[in-house]
Amino acid sequence: MAQPVISARGVSKRFLTHSSKATQLKERFVKGRGLGTEEFWALQDVDVTVGEGETVGLIGPNGAGKSTLLKVLAGILRPTSGEVQVEGRIASLLELGAGFNGELTGRENVYLNAALLGLPKREVDRLLDSIVAFSEQGPRIDEPVKHYSSGEYVKLAFSIAVHVDPDVLLIDEVLAVGDEAFARKCLAKIEEFQRAGKTILFVTHSLDLVTELCTRGIVVDHGRVQYDGDPAFAVGTLRKILGTDRPVGAPAAPTLMGGITVRAAVAATTRGGPASGRFRAGDPLHLRVECDVLPGDEVYPGEVGVVVMGAGDIPVFALRTPPGAGLPAVPGHYCVEFVVEAVPPLNGAFILGVQVDHAETGLPITARRFDDAIWVETGTLPGLLDVPAKVTVTQA
Ligand SMILES: Nc1ncnc2c1ncn2[C@@H]1O[C@H](COP(=O)(O)OP(=O)(O)O)[C@@H](O)[C@H]1O
Ligand SMILES: [Mg+2]
Repeated sequence: MAQPVISARGVSKRFLTHSSKATQLKERFVKGRGLGTEEFWALQDVDVTVGEGETVGLIGPNGAGKSTLLKVLAGILRPTSGEVQVEGRIASLLELGAGFNGELTGRENVYLNAALLGLPKREVDRLLDSIVAFSEQGPRIDEPVKHYSSGEYVKLAFSIAVHVDPDVLLIDEVLAVGDEAFARKCLAKIEEFQRAGKTILFVTHSLDLVTELCTRGIVVDHGRVQYDGDPAFAVGTLRKILGTDRPVGAPAAPTLMGGITVRAAVAATTRGGPASGRFRAGDPLHLRVECDVLPGDEVYPGEVGVVVMGAGDIPVFALRTPPGAGLPAVPGHYCVEFVVEAVPPLNGAFILGVQVDHAETGLPITARRFDDAIWVETGTLPGLLDVPAKVTVTQA
């Protein structure tokens, strides 16, 4: 992966709510400590790394934790545990209401927002006309933003975000709020940002946009990353969760996502040894995958597969637990260790794609990728594989 620009490690976010507000979601709440207070984990142990120049679509059902994750990355919410690091200037377009002061005019909010993003006043003076023009607000720019419609509000917010020359753009599903013409304008702007090599993370319900625009898709459900990788696979995974992968009226397929999570994948040179990451051809490789089988109404037996992928996600080889010898349908923390006696003569950085499927039905339960998990150094020539060859030069 390119230089990581956004990195979240083991991020969890707990909200404390008053029990009177916990209505039909009550079963999802765990009793908190204080009387009348319950705790709710909106994010649990989230690891996300985004490299420079990537465009990542963050998708998931309502209430999955997408907005919370963006706010944590934007530094607006502090995670309950875990670490977040973002390099460069971040411009964020979060949920309506975040970032603007309703009493101030549009113009005043432009200055306020730009200042928060670290732009000096004279720079904002220079950009103001262009910001107002892009936002299509005209003279309304001098009205308090509390009089703006949600669409007008988003137009101004988007216009500011794209004018401050950010390195990282975080966008919540606000684009759906504006009219279609504006949405098209925003997309053109996002594509311009992509070409300029900026890093973009956006939440959307428009799944086509994810396959068209994104280099990666991340599926979040119940506060956990359920899939991270290929955009088309991410969209397929979400459709399975939502049950929209079947024709209308078809019986609901069981949604298996969420019963098992992959916590880690570690490459070591010895059994149970520390993560090494670096190998030479012929070295032993102990690949350890740590999974949690979560307690719940239904607990599934899981088959664990690992695909070792090269650049461009090209599968190089795969490993899999044999039938009947995978994760048992018993909640707990498990460690699956694959032993490769000798690393093949590969070259470069390799990705580990871990997928857990239902041992009997084969339906996917969860998947997760670990970029740059293994480095193999064999030869000095380019190519995934180091192939020995005899060379002769003769005069013809
Ligand atoms: N400030 C808050 N206090 C309590 N619960 C919250 C708060 N913000 C979000 N939540 C809860 O956290 C969960 C995730 O919310 P959110 O991140 O907004 O989901 P999404 O954007 O994926 O729809 C939801 O169940 C939501 O009700
Ligand atoms: Mg949201």
